Amino acid sequence: MSSASSRRILLGISGGIAAYKSAQLARLLKQNGHQVRVVMTQGAQAFITPLTLQALTGEAVRTSLLDPEAEAGMGHIELARWADTILIAPATADLMARLAHGHADDLLTTLCLASPAQKIMAPAMNQAMWAQPATARNAQQLRQDGWQLLGPDSGEQACGDIGPGRMLEPEAIFSVLHQRVVLAETSAHKQHIVITAGPTREPLDPVRYLSNHSSGKMGYALATAALELGAKVTLISGPVSLPTPTGAHRVEVETAVEMANAAEQFASEADVFIGCAAVADYRAEAPAEHKLKKRAGEDGLTLRLIKNPDIIAAIAQRPRGQNRPYMVGFAAETRDLEDYARDKLTRKNLDMVVANDVSLTGLGFGVDNNAALLLWRDSTGKESRQELPPQPKIELARTILHQALIQQTISKN
Ligand code: CTP
Repeated sequence: MSSASSRRILLGISGGIAAYKSAQLARLLKQNGHQVRVVMTQGAQAFITPLTLQALTGEAVRTSLLDPEAEAGMGHIELARWADTILIAPATADLMARLAHGHADDLLTTLCLASPAQKIMAPAMNQAMWAQPATARNAQQLRQDGWQLLGPDSGEQACGDIGPGRMLEPEAIFSVLHQRVVLAETSAHKQHIVITAGPTREPLDPVRYLSNHSSGKMGYALATAALELGAKVTLISGPVSLPTPTGAHRVEVETAVEMANAAEQFASEADVFIGCAAVADYRAEAPAEHKLKKRAGEDGLTLRLIKNPDIIAAIAQRPRGQNRPYMVGFAAETRDLEDYARDKLTRKNLDMVVANDVSLTGLGFGVDNNAALLLWRDSTGKESRQELPPQPKIELARTILHQALIQQTISKN
């Protein structure tokens, strides 16, 4: 790793059996040129000694908030400011609960609260503890607060149970961190990512419209993930009740035609375009100027609809290299997911399609979780795929963006 990508990593270790794996993680981070300072909770020291981590990192390990000697060296606020990344591995259920509630009752939680660093944790606990609603709530809260949760893995546990709760292997944690760091610095930084999100509204008269159930959550999660990587983000949004992710430029639109105009304009200066909006396929040919009145004696009403412009297809038809960003589309299907997704990839001339099965309960429209299948083609036409299991939309957004940025970088070279 180049020194430009070298990070100042505060490695937090809490008290779980997986703590012994953190020694290997510290080693990997050091070997790859990162600066590493370790903070251990009291519980962690029952599993691994500070001396081991000191030997591996070449730095004194901090264990206490109220240690006058250590504070005289680098005070805890200074340490919080020093770190550009806080990585907690393992993160126990108790530590997650304390962080989710903003506690500052030991050195590690205090540093997390005081630091503006990027925050990542690898949870590790017994499978029953991970399955508890309280832990799920805490995990959800932490994600909302900007934490990235890596894992946990599933499999046999130290206690003999089998299920999700194992800490990811140090190599896997290192690899995610490495990819995110490298991506952030070599690819996403200063890139302009344009995202369409939410539904469109097609007026029938001044008080009625045609629309759909899109909540905008997936598009907004993509915007958040892009901002985390340091990208410039333009979010072209239909009417949704979500706050604008901090740092995004939000362009509010109502109709598909308005969305198309904004998209055409911003796509010309975009590196990546993600069409996440649920655009109404049709609009009223002639919306009434005044409120439509019921007609006495008539049982029905016939509306004539005409086709809306296909926003993503129009931009994707631009010749490569001429204001044509890397194009990522979505395909919401209820059957034959992969075939329809492939068809969309070809028909709309896209570079990547994110396909999801909207017939599955608890996933997709309006909810916080989603699963997806990514399909993409390289410049030679070779197709690749990646299946993404059900997970919170923000996690899914990070993985989609990650893959899109990698493929976009490859396609440029
Ligand atoms: N899209 C768009 N403009 C439209 C319609 C769709 O940009 N007028 C984009 C969506 O944002 C999404 C993808 O195209 O990225 C979805 O394709 P779409 O044709 O809407 O899918 P379906 O309506 O499900 O297609 P079909 O009618 O073939 O089922």
